[in-house]
Amino acid sequence: MLLSYVLGLGLILFKHVGSVRVCMKFSDYFLDNGTNCWENTDADLNVTQIIKKWGFNAEEHYMRTEDGYRILMVRSYYKITKSTPIVIGHGIYMNSLGFVDIGNKSLTFILNKLGYDVWLLNFRGTRYSSEHFSLTIDDIDYWKFSFHEMGIYDLPVALDLVFKVTRQKSIYIGFSMGTTVSYVYSSIFPLKASSLLKGIISLAPIAYLNKIKSILKYGAPFWPMIKPSVYFIWKGKVLPRNDQMGKFCTKNPTQMYICESIKVPIFGDDFDQLDPLYRPVTNILNPDTIGINVVTHYDQIINTGKFQWISFGKKINHLLYGTPTPPLYRLSDIMVPISLFVGLNDWISTRKNAEQLCSELINTQCLIKYINHSKWNHGDFITARGIKPLLNDRVAFEINSMELQWESYSIKIPRSIVGI
Ligand SMILES: *[C@@H]1O[C@H](CO)[C@@H](O)[C@H](O)[C@H]1NC(C)=O
Ligand SMILES: *[C@@H]1O[C@H](CO)[C@@H](O)[C@H](O)[C@H]1NC(C)=O
Ligand SMILES: *[C@@H]1O[C@H](CO)[C@@H](O)[C@H](O)[C@H]1NC(C)=O
Ligand SMILES: *[C@@H]1O[C@H](CO)[C@@H](O)[C@H](O)[C@H]1NC(C)=O
Repeated sequence: MLLSYVLGLGLILFKHVGSVRVCMKFSDYFLDNGTNCWENTDADLNVTQIIKKWGFNAEEHYMRTEDGYRILMVRSYYKITKSTPIVIGHGIYMNSLGFVDIGNKSLTFILNKLGYDVWLLNFRGTRYSSEHFSLTIDDIDYWKFSFHEMGIYDLPVALDLVFKVTRQKSIYIGFSMGTTVSYVYSSIFPLKASSLLKGIISLAPIAYLNKIKSILKYGAPFWPMIKPSVYFIWKGKVLPRNDQMGKFCTKNPTQMYICESIKVPIFGDDFDQLDPLYRPVTNILNPDTIGINVVTHYDQIINTGKFQWISFGKKINHLLYGTPTPPLYRLSDIMVPISLFVGLNDWISTRKNAEQLCSELINTQCLIKYINHSKWNHGDFITARGIKPLLNDRVAFEINSMELQWESYSIKIPRSIVGI
């Protein structure tokens, strides 16, 4: 990742174009006469514009979190025939664009066509959620948050808004960091969570990170040493968005393969699922930045093997938490049913860590679904060529099962106990 960033920096500026050339097959990119190629204009649009371009309705809902961040949720819908709103939370280094930028294979549009009301959350610090009532993104203090704050501030305000507008309990779908956020939220506010959520669907779940295969495992012990320089160079961010990088990775299949190869040690390899038609667009649109404490917090989870609050060192921990080490997130307090989708070649969200997570969710139902493609890696959850049959259609099916289960459950139990 760092290498790719340096590569990107070294590139000369490409002329800014409002669209990107895409082709049906990788071989088509090398032909001048290709009728299998055209310009995809999504690359120059924002999330709302893309939703509208594909024929769906879009609404922008800005919210103010308790600690002063202004965050955006984008609602996408067509004909709403299903009662359960779907809230989607993105992963690290991305934003809600990742759920609308692969055309009709996008999870958002698949769910919209089935009649679901979809709400795309943009966590603090990302492209569309970068304002604060007193700080700007150039202030180091702006970036003093981890996924913990997304879980105790961003997600609650988002779920409250969806309930206020729809008067319905939602199903939350998270990817990667978006799953961590949901475990933070539903373990700290278990009653609130079960009053607002029928279920949680986790794509590439991340609570424990001690069994990862990714190269990050070997880098993790060194983060505390590198951190001060990163802090100095990027002023609270890690890897700021770099448009030149996206353009390099987009130009032709050779460069797309180079960029993919760089990610292999982090994500796992799966060249088979590289999507010739959408990879140029996703390479431009998906990358976003992240705050340094998110990286530090994940680093701590890798190093300690514990899913716990962020550590500030013994002294400050004592003041804040009353103990020398931070408290654990109490997974056993979670009462919302959870289904995990796990890739067998995902080097970050591994099968073993998913099983550990499930085994600790003792007060709710936890199911693990494995993706039926042996090379499925971490990035495939967002960009795989076969994402529709292999993942997104199954997610839609899982939503339906959760709704049915919730209905039969709430008939048996008086409404007053179920919640709102
Ligand atoms: C495009 O050009 C290639 C060779 O350059 C040729 O084999 C192919 O038939 C051409 N396709 C069309 C649609 O003209
Ligand atoms: C997207 O672009 C449109 C048109 O310029 C603008 O009205 C809208 O506010 C933008 N939305 C976001 C989230 O940037
Ligand atoms: C998606 O669009 C492609 C053309 O871009 C089309 O071939 C395919 O059938 C569409 N799939 C669905 C499920 O609508
Ligand atoms: C998984 O994929 C294989 C072929 O790739 C197929 O034979 C099998 O039926 C699939 N299993 C499920 C459960 O879809």
